[in-house]
Amino acid sequence: SRMKYIFRMAFVKTHSFILFILFSLPDKICDQISDAVLDAHLKQDPDAKVACETVCKTGMVLLCGEITSRANVDYQKVVRDTIKHIGYDNSEKGFDYKTCNVLVALEQQSPDIAQGVHVDRQEEDMGAGDQGLMFGYATDETEECMPLTIILAHKLNYKMAELRRNGTIPWLRPDSKTQVTVHYEQQDGAVIPKRVHTVVISVQHDDFISLEEQKNVLKEKVIKAVVPAKYLDDRTIYHLQPSGRFVIGGPQGDAGVTGRKIIVDTYGGWGAHGGGAFSGKDFSKVDRSAAYAARWVAKSLVKAELCRRVLVQVSYAIGVAHPLSISVFTYGSSQRSEKELLQIVNKNFDLRPGVIVRELNLKRPIYQNTACYGHFGRSEFTWEVPKVLNF
Ligand SMILES: *[C@@H]1O[C@H](CO)[C@@H](O)[C@H](O)[C@H]1NC(C)=O
Repeated sequence: SRMKYIFRMAFVKTHSFILFILFSLPDKICDQISDAVLDAHLKQDPDAKVACETVCKTGMVLLCGEITSRANVDYQKVVRDTIKHIGYDNSEKGFDYKTCNVLVALEQQSPDIAQGVHVDRQEEDMGAGDQGLMFGYATDETEECMPLTIILAHKLNYKMAELRRNGTIPWLRPDSKTQVTVHYEQQDGAVIPKRVHTVVISVQHDDFISLEEQKNVLKEKVIKAVVPAKYLDDRTIYHLQPSGRFVIGGPQGDAGVTGRKIIVDTYGGWGAHGGGAFSGKDFSKVDRSAAYAARWVAKSLVKAELCRRVLVQVSYAIGVAHPLSISVFTYGSSQRSEKELLQIVNKNFDLRPGVIVRELNLKRPIYQNTACYGHFGRSEFTWEVPKVLNF
């Protein structure tokens, strides 16, 4: 089968194809709304406890979850402003922020969880909000220490949104999806991008623009502006608008749910994933804060040149502050043993959620901005600033 083929290729010593994917709008609308609700609470109450899920479908947005906060939030306004910003302002495009229904089913955080995690405790010693395991990954193949595949896929989406918003490509609509396949060579555990093998773009568009014109503009104004010329050659394959027509998009085309794009949000299928989603959750949920911290650890190790590629895993139990385990896997890309690296991690990082929140400054309302184009590899976030390590 195709999947088997990909896995087999991934283990060949030198020429491996590794792909991955980005952005499907209805789910990302939900992530952005969940994080907009979180930010609205944190602006008024930095200690708000928020777990907010969103569901959207034609003409409807449903918020559900548990929130304990001193803030007074106008949910109707937060939801409509977010949809307007994304670009859905007309039912012809499949969604309209002015007329959609916004249903709110939010309750208080369970008192059982509150007493087990944070009530009557010093912040440093507060427990993890749930059990679970999280991963952080970093690789020296790009300046951002992110896989080239996912960086390019995000940048293609970002470029399309930019050119749509500033009027350069007026026929683009907000829903878009990209996928980039890169040909890599492996070298002592590190991976080195050689060329872009395939680019896939599906983007929602106005009616009556010829397919020929769309393909041409996507190649000239989007792909060539994003993918460095050294990676493109005459064997690069383009699948542009492969479905042939994508006029109806957004929640009318496809239902959306928060937390269903966890691979897009992280490393594009590289490294590993513990399964927990990020959007709509405050720092006390280790699904989010510990995944950010694990990325911070991984990137700090790579930037310190202790290894070229690394996967860091942490695990927690509800109500327990210290991680149950921390492990480091370098793919053989380090001169040092994994045991030594683990000692360095233990010496330099305190991974209790009540310490992570302080070191990464996670009580600020910064989250809506994380909810599209990836949570990692973007210099504006504290977890992307490598820590200077003592070793
Ligand atoms: C729109 O953005 C592109 C890419 O940054 C830029 O090259 C172009 O000049 C901008 N156009 C306008 C009209 O601002």
